[in-house]
Amino acid sequence: MNISRLTAFAGLSQLESIPMMLDLETIIGSYDAKAQLDQASTIPAAWYTDKRIFELEKQMVFGRSWQFAARADQLPEPGDFVTTDIVGEPIVIVRGSDQVVRGFFNVCRHHAAAVMTEPAGHANQMRCPYHGWTYSLEGELKGTPDFSGVCNFDREENGLAPVELSAWGNWVFVRLEGGQVRHLNESRVSLDDFLGTDLINQFQSLNLGNLHWFERRRYILNCNWKVFVDNYLDGGYHVPHLHKGLDSVLDYSNYTIENGEHFCLQSSPMVTAGAESPTGAVRTGRRALYYWLYPNFMINCYEGVMDTNLVRPLAVDRTEVVFDFYFADVSEQARERNLASVDVGERIQQEDLDICESVQRGLKSRGYTAGRLSVRREAGEHLFHQLLHADSKAGTDAAVDR
Ligand code: FES
Ligand SMILES: [Fe+2]
Repeated sequence: MNISRLTAFAGLSQLESIPMMLDLETIIGSYDAKAQLDQASTIPAAWYTDKRIFELEKQMVFGRSWQFAARADQLPEPGDFVTTDIVGEPIVIVRGSDQVVRGFFNVCRHHAAAVMTEPAGHANQMRCPYHGWTYSLEGELKGTPDFSGVCNFDREENGLAPVELSAWGNWVFVRLEGGQVRHLNESRVSLDDFLGTDLINQFQSLNLGNLHWFERRRYILNCNWKVFVDNYLDGGYHVPHLHKGLDSVLDYSNYTIENGEHFCLQSSPMVTAGAESPTGAVRTGRRALYYWLYPNFMINCYEGVMDTNLVRPLAVDRTEVVFDFYFADVSEQARERNLASVDVGERIQQEDLDICESVQRGLKSRGYTAGRLSVRREAGEHLFHQLLHADSKAGTDAAVDR
């Protein structure tokens, strides 16, 4: 049945109303990545609701990009480890006896059980709970109980499978795929090259080493991961409407948006006159800096306060956002003030959560296909959509070539 007959059959007037019936190439191709910001639309609604797009993004966006996986402050000593999951891939990060931090797929080479099962901890070796195989902190297979007599089994070939790992200050990033997708190898870049010297230099001058991790909070949202990122990247557009407290400390009309190659810096001068009291007490300084790194990591800085947001896709319409809060002073005396600051962040997050879920419901409606972008505010969102398009299109092009 062709599309037009199917459309008539369904009694629908627009092809976009039945995105599941369109092939992936058509859905990806329906976004015009070359349009300038004043001509551009958002990516189509189907990108937020179609499970095939979600699977494509797992491969092409999350499988190939640098992903935040752990904080170096979680791994001070040899044997310290952190486990995580990146779009369903179990990962373990561990500091070896030689002090080197390495990343591995947390998947036993025997029958695929997770080797390390705690979120974080300390171990002298990595021992699989299923049949007791053991691996060194460097990932080599060491112990294989009751396994003598197995032919053609090379222990050296059966260490934990490594992932690429690189650190940026306190942040440890991994990359799942070493470029196995045919003819995409040229897109492999080191973390430093991906960040770029401009961003690295900007962060050097921020002296983030003076800030110390305080607390982690997690939030689950019933929306596609990109809804949360879009919301973050709207250049403060929603702030006066949704976040009255935050709005009271920002100079909204002088908010700036600057795009790098793979990042966006949204920044606002801060004001004290008229600041709402809980927010004004804990959001101070000359400027608020909101950095987004493609595709899913944000760093928010005020004076003496920073939080990072990691956006973790769980399903096409389900997302976890992990907030790590850092402060200059994490002593017991500063605890109350720090908790008040976290509470202000939590209130803002709750306001964002409700609107993100509203947007997800709207994206599923036949009454919406795509929207236009504010030239003044939404350049960051435009960059996000262009980068997504490039990665997604590389996936559909590779599938066509195969
Ligand atoms: S699955 Fe790990 S020892 Fe068998
Ligand atoms: Fe917000």
